[in-house]
Amino acid sequence: MLVVSLGGSPAERSRSNLLLERSRRWLQQQGIEVVEYRVTGFPAEDLLHARFDSPHIVDLRAQIANADGLLVATPVYKASFTGALKAVLDLLPERAFEHKVVLPLSTGGSKAHMLAVDYALKPVLSALKAEEVLHGVFADDGQIAYGENGAPAQFAPALLQRLDEALQQFHRALLRRPKALDKNLLATARWSI
Ligand SMILES: Cc1cc2nc3c(=O)[nH]c(=O)nc-3n(C[C@H](O)[C@H](O)[C@H](O)COP(=O)(O)O)c2cc1C
Repeated sequence: MLVVSLGGSPAERSRSNLLLERSRRWLQQQGIEVVEYRVTGFPAEDLLHARFDSPHIVDLRAQIANADGLLVATPVYKASFTGALKAVLDLLPERAFEHKVVLPLSTGGSKAHMLAVDYALKPVLSALKAEEVLHGVFADDGQIAYGENGAPAQFAPALLQRLDEALQQFHRALLRRPKALDKNLLATARWSI
């Protein structure tokens, strides 16, 4: 099983990325392979000029095509998701998320914008034909503290509980997906149609 993790924060030190890191570790403990992308990993020129043939974008598209699900994280910027994340999503084909389960994660300075993912990001995930977009997890900045001097980050217990529940739901949704047919099945079949 393969999950693509896409981090939408342009910031090097990023709370939304901490949510992603923790989620990736959780999924890996369940034996799920996770490949990681961040908006900062794409050349800015490729995004600004909408270069659909950018090798970085071609690679992302190939990984998404093979993936069962996606974790998409973003900070709230101006009551929406980040422009950098939109610039990446704009370079994906229209049906890029077809047959995929998506878990959105977001962080914001104010709880007043906790619905930004619902009214701003989810319509875009639907436009990309995501099969199932799960109820996302929002954390306000007070719920995630950076660890200083190499110490691990601290998450509020209530946030951890919501994140774990969302990941369990994501895992169940991944397991529910129909399995690809074995290529050799028809070759060995003993019946005719
Ligand atoms: C340019 C900019 C715009 C922001 N706009 C909002 C906003 O509209 N609402 C909000 O709640 N937080 C806003 N914030 C705060 C961030 O969403 C918040 O600090 C978030 O956790 C940052 O995530 P990151 O550390 O992953 O970059 C903004 C921050 C920046 C830098």
